[in-house]
Amino acid sequence: MTQSFKKLRGLTGMHDVLPDQSAQWEQLEEIVRDWLASYGYRNMRTPILEHTQLFARGIGEVTDIVEKEMYSFTDSLNGDKLTMRPEFTAGIVRSAIEHNLLYERPQRIYSIGPVFRHERPQRGRYRQFHQIDVEALGFPGPDVDAEMIVMLDRLWQRLGLTDVRLEINSLGQSHERAAHREALIAYLEQHQDILDDDAKRRMYTNPLRVLDTKNPDLQEMADAAPRLFEFLGEESLAHYEGVCQRLDAMDIEYTLNPRMVRGLDYYNLTVFEWITDRLGAQGTVCGGGRYDGLFELLGGKSTPGIGFAIGMERLLELVQQQDILPNTAECDIYMVYQNDAGQQQAMVLAEQLRDAGLRVVVHAGPKSMRAQFRRADNSGALAAIILGQSELETQQASVKWLRAPALNDEQPQQEQVDFAQCVQFLKSRIGD
Ligand code: HAM
Repeated sequence: MTQSFKKLRGLTGMHDVLPDQSAQWEQLEEIVRDWLASYGYRNMRTPILEHTQLFARGIGEVTDIVEKEMYSFTDSLNGDKLTMRPEFTAGIVRSAIEHNLLYERPQRIYSIGPVFRHERPQRGRYRQFHQIDVEALGFPGPDVDAEMIVMLDRLWQRLGLTDVRLEINSLGQSHERAAHREALIAYLEQHQDILDDDAKRRMYTNPLRVLDTKNPDLQEMADAAPRLFEFLGEESLAHYEGVCQRLDAMDIEYTLNPRMVRGLDYYNLTVFEWITDRLGAQGTVCGGGRYDGLFELLGGKSTPGIGFAIGMERLLELVQQQDILPNTAECDIYMVYQNDAGQQQAMVLAEQLRDAGLRVVVHAGPKSMRAQFRRADNSGALAAIILGQSELETQQASVKWLRAPALNDEQPQQEQVDFAQCVQFLKSRIGD
């Protein structure tokens, strides 16, 4: 008796990227890598697993991420407490300190890959998602702050995205935040009677986050609360203005959102978010800011830093709405044959075509010519090369054009080409 197994499914909030979608991911990644290289950013890769302590200290003990969204576990083999990265920044800074990466010069770095947060899944919010993370390490700004924002604006342009808007804020320095915090706690104490449980719980641990509340009953109170911006001293204001002046000079539109706090505790001075209305409730495509205290917090020398991360799935959804990334075909040329001798000739010719930079699939599977042509068509190839008995006898391949640009009214749909001329002929007609 054969045993039947129950079908297994993937995890909630974690998605498979199937080949058609993956072709789009790769195209988008290619554009993004080109864009980053054009600003002098270089790739680095850090492990997905890190010590839990890194994120607890780096992101902050009383943030949503650390309190309730991390995939953490104890390694049963040695008792280490580990976490799957919920973001890149802490790991990149850890690595920069560990390898003394800034010894000679500041560094412009990026990483692309999966991150993990145990959130309630919904459109645009997943438990495994991907970030394009970009960090400028060792630059005090405000020039780099503005450069980062300008480069993002250029990326949206390059992708044809028009309705992504920029909000910025300054979170000042720690002494300014401390003064503001005191004033804020005093204000919240005055409004104790209307606060919800979440607000009461955070009032002394992370009062800034109380202002970020989604509770409509608290909006009025939050709107009227003392603003951190009003506590900024001369230096912080000068930094903020330095960013704004450069954005103005580059014609970048922005609005000051004095209530933007971001969900991670390492930020100071410049913070920013790019938001769209075209993705439903999860409209933040990109978020970032300055983190001049993070190196020290993680045991390194005092070093300024600033960065941002783009949510890959959200960016891809926006780009798909524009319909600018065509689906990539499986191959340029699909090879069809009649018998074993034809199949062997196809393998030889295919290698020559691949050497010339073409993408070639040699049919495998059902042998009927009808089935082979159906596959050729489904593959999205521009041409099929047919190697039947008569082609082997004349040493000439039949090239059948399947779709534009090679298939057009001016040329015959099928042509005969000497085996020896095939590469040159196809290259000249299909191009690069
Ligand atoms: P973040 O704001 O937590 O910042 O995340 C950045 C972006 O990741 C968000 O704007 C959003 O597009 C995407 N994202 C966040 N959570 C999810 C989710 N559950 N599902 C899908 N996409 C999501 C950071 O992570 C900082 N490390 C950014 C940074 C780099 N700051 C300085 N350097």
